[in-house]
Amino acid sequence: MNRVPTSHDTQKIEMIRAQMPAVTREVYLNTGTNGPLTLRAAQAMTAFAQQELENGRIGQAAYDRSLGVMNQARTLIAELLACSVEEVALTHNTTEGMNIALMGLDWRAGDELVTATSEHEGGLNPAALLKARYGVKVVYTDIGLCNCDSVFSLRRALTPRTKAIVISHVSWATGAVLPLREMCDMAHRFGALVICDAAQAAGMVPSRVYELGVDAYALSGQKWLCGPDGIGGLFIRRDLLPKIQNTFTGYYGIKGRVISENAEIQFGETAQRYQYAANYYPAVAGFNAGMEWIRDAVGWDWVYQRTRELGQYAYDELSRVQGLKCYMPREQIAGLVHFTVDGIAPADLTAKLYEQNIFIRHVPEPLLNRAAAGFFNTEEDIARLVTGIESVRK
Ligand SMILES: Cc1ncc(COP(=O)(O)O)c(C=O)c1O
Repeated sequence: MNRVPTSHDTQKIEMIRAQMPAVTREVYLNTGTNGPLTLRAAQAMTAFAQQELENGRIGQAAYDRSLGVMNQARTLIAELLACSVEEVALTHNTTEGMNIALMGLDWRAGDELVTATSEHEGGLNPAALLKARYGVKVVYTDIGLCNCDSVFSLRRALTPRTKAIVISHVSWATGAVLPLREMCDMAHRFGALVICDAAQAAGMVPSRVYELGVDAYALSGQKWLCGPDGIGGLFIRRDLLPKIQNTFTGYYGIKGRVISENAEIQFGETAQRYQYAANYYPAVAGFNAGMEWIRDAVGWDWVYQRTRELGQYAYDELSRVQGLKCYMPREQIAGLVHFTVDGIAPADLTAKLYEQNIFIRHVPEPLLNRAAAGFFNTEEDIARLVTGIESVRK
């Protein structure tokens, strides 16, 4: 059962919405693509960019400021994931994190990698590249699809040659929140690492990586964390840092310069060694300000609970629409609801709702519509979605 929002919640949601202008201009139900920016993030980005303009980007103070925001971002991500800051590398997005983790393993022809047909290109394409480059055997499962027992499906795909599995915590394609703990335990029994795509999970569901059991966890700032584009994070478990090799390297996390034939490159001990280039500092400052605001003014546990409740509320309301069928079982979803409506192609429904200022999307495989309920959305948003769909059906 969904908890009915209390008056305290209602006031809180109003306070939140006052901080996110985009959610009051449209029915904002596509956080799975990009979350709404917070005023705090936008103001911090502007302030950082302005002071770069006025004071320049050189000198010790500027250097300290830039390094300061990068380190603060790692700290905030570590807090979200309940891990050490030393296990977090700052990246530019989820896809980069997936590539860093996957390309860092010592792949040999005949090694196996297990993934799922419903995965996003951010994980699928690095897997395909490993096949093309090293002759890795990529095994595609139906994990994440409706009626699939994820743990059983994984068990069937694992062999003694499986080196890694590439799987999302929350599926972009179906909304399934996967039972990661059991899947990780199963993978580890076969000696395989779990490289997890958390693009849809970070900020939607609890992401305490040690409780989940993952080995690597790649996330983005621009979706459920409601931050700017161009900033993400990668967790790599401490004991794996020596095992996951660098594919890229630059001036972060390296000990000394290699300027003689006798010298070898020496990596630092923390995950910062995977950072090879700067991020856009105003964006990093914006990400930090937004993350602090959500943590302090909203609270992550409240965010997770509200998102799941509103997602399941949306599921119930949508299920009442004639001819509409939700794809996943209700208890397996949180913020993403996937569905089809009889007689309306998903792309057409997205376009028709867009004309009514209602923003959802459709996904290709399986071909479905997708509505995303965030902690800033309201029951009224869901009602407008339902009415919008009913008007399209007429
Ligand atoms: C599951 C999943 N992985 C990866 C991505 C790509 O994210 P990014 O642009 O941060 O690399 C997305 C974007 O929609 C996604 O849904």
